[in-house]
Amino acid sequence: MSRPDKHQLSTLSFHTLSVHGGNEIDKTSGAIRTPIVMANSYLLPEDPSTMDWSDTETPSYTRNSGHNQIGLQRKLAALEGGEDAAVFATGVAALHAVFFTFLKTGDHVVVGDVTYEAVWRLFAELLPQRYQIEATFVDMGDMDAVRAAIRPNTKLIHTETIANPTTKVADIATLVSIAKEAGALLTVDSTFTPPPFFRPLALGADLVIHSLTKYINGHGDAMGGVVIGSKELVHHVKADALVDVGGTISPFNAWLIMRGSVTLPLRLKQQFSSAETVAQYLATDKRVAYVTYPGLESHDQHELAQKQFAGQGYGAMMAFAVEGDPDTQNRFVANLKVITSAVSLGHDESLIVHVGGGGRGGSNKYPPNFQKYGHLRLSIGLEDPRDLIADINNALDATFEKSNPI
Ligand SMILES: Cc1ncc(COP(=O)(O)O)c(C=O)c1O
Repeated sequence: MSRPDKHQLSTLSFHTLSVHGGNEIDKTSGAIRTPIVMANSYLLPEDPSTMDWSDTETPSYTRNSGHNQIGLQRKLAALEGGEDAAVFATGVAALHAVFFTFLKTGDHVVVGDVTYEAVWRLFAELLPQRYQIEATFVDMGDMDAVRAAIRPNTKLIHTETIANPTTKVADIATLVSIAKEAGALLTVDSTFTPPPFFRPLALGADLVIHSLTKYINGHGDAMGGVVIGSKELVHHVKADALVDVGGTISPFNAWLIMRGSVTLPLRLKQQFSSAETVAQYLATDKRVAYVTYPGLESHDQHELAQKQFAGQGYGAMMAFAVEGDPDTQNRFVANLKVITSAVSLGHDESLIVHVGGGGRGGSNKYPPNFQKYGHLRLSIGLEDPRDLIADINNALDATFEKSNPI
């Protein structure tokens, strides 16, 4: 039975693509799901002397490409609306691959002043110190500040759609026009806003990056990253950062992510809706010092989020703190029974992590509330939101009943 080919994929709806995209019926066994191919080498043609050893299209060596990576790349490109995709071992490997491929000594980058910590360190320390690549960190909620930061040697603007952890929303359409005018690439970490919820490429972004570890796998049992965009840009990423730097995803993890992504649209719908309910509850409880979530009217970019995400929701990530010092935050987390204290996000189970006022290295520019109380980053999972609210309420009762009731 023939399956939808590369061109037909673009005609299928998102839900259908989530099920069938990139999957092949195995020719030898007839298995209807692509089997895991753990071999690290593939049979060479009869005359390999003319082969391109850096080819990433036909599998010969798994660092460059393999059966499971190719299927996953095909699927993710189709889901995000890109021409091609390159998958990596982690989200950070994918982000580094983009910066490594497109930046060289003397280049300048504009990057959000709140960003995933590894990205902050790459631009604040590692890339400037080793390659003299300069970065200006700007408020991605302030487009005049972004314009003012552009220099003649600005080669790249990098942002998160919704910033981790402050939930600041970047205006992607305006960033596209600023990047185009500057002749720079716009690279967007869309980990908090996977498709079909949001597709930055459709607005003109050059490359989209996801940590596959999060929503796209969605089950907290595999790590991965992806870069998606035009064939030409993704080819450069593969040629430079995959073939000659490595960071390749294992076939097993690619297979797990392929399986997890089948339910992506269903999971997102549930998680985004539950997140709105939980955020609204947190906003009304007096024992909660603050909550930041783009779906709340109190959020600085609520209107932008409404417009940009076309009323489809606001993600499933929020940050808040309970009234009190760091010990109180820890006590509250320890009193939770359903929500798990662990890093990562976008899993099937809800996760919470207590981060102190300055973040990991005092790097990110946190708002005053974050600095005063620290923050609890909450990733809403697939549990019934009523159970999540009851869990939070019970933990608040347990935290505040003996000491310092409010
Ligand atoms: C927005 C964002 N980008 C990238 C990453 C890095 O992904 P990974 O942990 O898969 O390397 C994370 C991890 O939390 C993240 O939250």
